[in-house]
Amino acid sequence: MDFQKIIAVATKRGIFQPAFDAYGGLAGFLDYGPVGVRMRRRILEVWRKHYVINAGCLELDGALVGPEALFQASGHLGEFDDALVDCEECGKQFRADHLVDGGEEMSRADLAKAIANISCPNCSSTLSEMRAFNLMFATSVGAGKGTPGYLRPETAQSIFLAFPWLLRQNRGKLPFAGAQIGRSFRNEISPRQGPIRMREFTQMEVEHFFLPSDEPELPSELENTKITLLPAHGKENQTTVGEAFDSKIINSSLVATHLARAQNFLISIGVPNEKLRFRQHGSNEMAHYSSDCWDGEINTSLGWIEIVGVAHRGCYDLSAHGNASSKEFRVPIPGTEQETEVWKPDIGKLGKEFRGNAKLILEAIKDIELKPGITVNIDGESIGLDESYMALKMERKSQMVYPNVVEPSFGLDRILYCLLESSWNVEGEREWISLPQDTSPYDLLVAPLMTKDKLDEKAHEIMKSAIDVGVDAYYDEAGSIGRRYARADEIGIFYSMTIDHQTLEDGTVTLRERDSKNQSRVPIKDALDRVRR
Ligand code: GLY
Repeated sequence: MDFQKIIAVATKRGIFQPAFDAYGGLAGFLDYGPVGVRMRRRILEVWRKHYVINAGCLELDGALVGPEALFQASGHLGEFDDALVDCEECGKQFRADHLVDGGEEMSRADLAKAIANISCPNCSSTLSEMRAFNLMFATSVGAGKGTPGYLRPETAQSIFLAFPWLLRQNRGKLPFAGAQIGRSFRNEISPRQGPIRMREFTQMEVEHFFLPSDEPELPSELENTKITLLPAHGKENQTTVGEAFDSKIINSSLVATHLARAQNFLISIGVPNEKLRFRQHGSNEMAHYSSDCWDGEINTSLGWIEIVGVAHRGCYDLSAHGNASSKEFRVPIPGTEQETEVWKPDIGKLGKEFRGNAKLILEAIKDIELKPGITVNIDGESIGLDESYMALKMERKSQMVYPNVVEPSFGLDRILYCLLESSWNVEGEREWISLPQDTSPYDLLVAPLMTKDKLDEKAHEIMKSAIDVGVDAYYDEAGSIGRRYARADEIGIFYSMTIDHQTLEDGTVTLRERDSKNQSRVPIKDALDRVRR
């Protein structure tokens, strides 16, 4: 199966279609249909099982629009851009790194040189100088002039901002991980290839926080995970995660852990192991926040497609928010506690001076390091607090440090596309999607052989029993039974059940397995037991 065919049949089979087509479409946006929504939900369910239920990540559902200060601090306003060139003649715009082979791995200076003599691919005219184009969608929050805001370009930032809150939920203990599933937005210069490069897309991200001096070890049950690695400086090789860590191909035990976990998750949803590799970023390719990054890529008809990135973000984000905001994003270093002088608020004086606002001031300084000259913002008014509002007291205090973070970040839309391509089978007239049951859109087709002699009534009754025991079932009575099997195969329904006259006599049905097409005659209850996940 190739890209064109998948895109063509995705609409027909209710998987996805270009959004807003009634108005001529808008590149980079998709709508998912009844089958696509089910497949996405199933992938998400498996992801939640791996990361939230089994690995115990703390789940978050953050806001989609964020204030300018957040993205100023995170570096997205300054550095999250692509190099753009315009054609002065036809007005088309191009990503500079797409105009030359290997452009994505070049530094901006090398890229500028490499495209210097390239003409417009559309009309052969001269192209403009290269300039940076920020990828965030800007908006304005509130009425009138409003406040500048941006649609989030990654879900990760909500997890970083929530770090102090999540830490409290985790009783102040490290390591722990936050996880989030949600939409992100990037104003891509040239969105293309349907679900591969989108302007609105769904991410599944984990931020695993740990003390820099106490990085979690590679768990023994993951050490022997076989993996294909393509290091930035070296050849592709198959090894185990444990060996790659011991030989320093992978430098961090937690990156090694998350490469193994990501691979296990991807294989469990149906990604073929032999088409999967992890490629390390070169220094020019690395995002502004990363010190190391490995992309999990699948080999498809479009070439290698990134579906997950495992990045070591160090303390980039927490220290950025710690420095730019009024919150404490550091944690105490265990074993460093000692008696220290600290400034404490003079509650009596604050009360006398500020009356009703004193409570708000105390609340505002609760989580920050108090010192003379500090300013707090109460209802838009800046209030400066000098030495007279505080006193030095002895307190047991520890040295503080910003935790480090390792992040596996998955792109759901790309994963779904790659799964469709790799699990699509064609054999003569027959086409079927062979995903594991957990990521198939339905567990079961319920099909009466015909709609007379009360076979449809019996089928409806079985349908209800199936739903009652948690089987995701699809009812179809239209057309010949062969045609119904074919339709079920085309969207990858895992089992099919046929209800015929014998069902009315002895309570047995025909159960057909999608991949083998094997059929067996079994009592209804046994069939449902087999189909239940
Ligand atoms: N959080 C990593 C990314 O969005 O690419």
